[in-house]
Amino acid sequence: MFISLEGVDGSGKSTQARLLVEALGAETVAIREPGGTDAAERIRTLLADPAVELEPLAELLLFLAARADLTERVIRPALEAGRDVVSDRFSDSSVAYQGAARGLGVGEVINLCDTSTDGLWPDLTLLLKVDPEVGLGRAQSEDRFEAEGLDLQREVAQAYDEIAMIAADRVVVIDAAGTVEEVHARILAAVEAHRE
Ligand code: TYD
Repeated sequence: MFISLEGVDGSGKSTQARLLVEALGAETVAIREPGGTDAAERIRTLLADPAVELEPLAELLLFLAARADLTERVIRPALEAGRDVVSDRFSDSSVAYQGAARGLGVGEVINLCDTSTDGLWPDLTLLLKVDPEVGLGRAQSEDRFEAEGLDLQREVAQAYDEIAMIAADRVVVIDAAGTVEEVHARILAAVEAHRE
């Protein structure tokens, strides 16, 4: 099964992705977007640098280039070998950040994501829901998006709500308020329910 975790910055996704990977067992492939291949990690470094100015479309295409490489080289082979894949962010991040918050268009970005991944979407997307203000307070790093503050995070949060409605068949909203253990238990329950 291919599972992605999504949410605003500081929603606790990365911790929860790690715990989920541990719970699913040693065969599980863990991925963090952007990244996961040599090329994608270099693109990650570029995108994370607030000193580098980028046009929104160029930014989107860099995320998509990283994802295209990761999908073909890592995700598809793992799924074909019968392994579970857990990704900390995937195409829905592009839809929320570049499509909605950057204004490139939700429908357009969905189509471009579809092309970049040759039609691969997660079987299950766990959308960690936390108040954007709480999230920004928690976020440790200051990448280009966090540096832009609350308005951007609010737009991203709204876009995720929209995605949860458009893709209700695969997106499960998880209440990310509470302790790490409580949220982990909610995630495991959602994964088990989806496997049935
Ligand atoms: P990430 O490393 O997950 O940040 P954090 O660990 O702080 O949640 O992601 C880095 C940033 O990249 C994050 O602000 C979201 C953004 N992003 C996009 O804008 N579009 C995308 O397609 C992806 C994958 C991430």
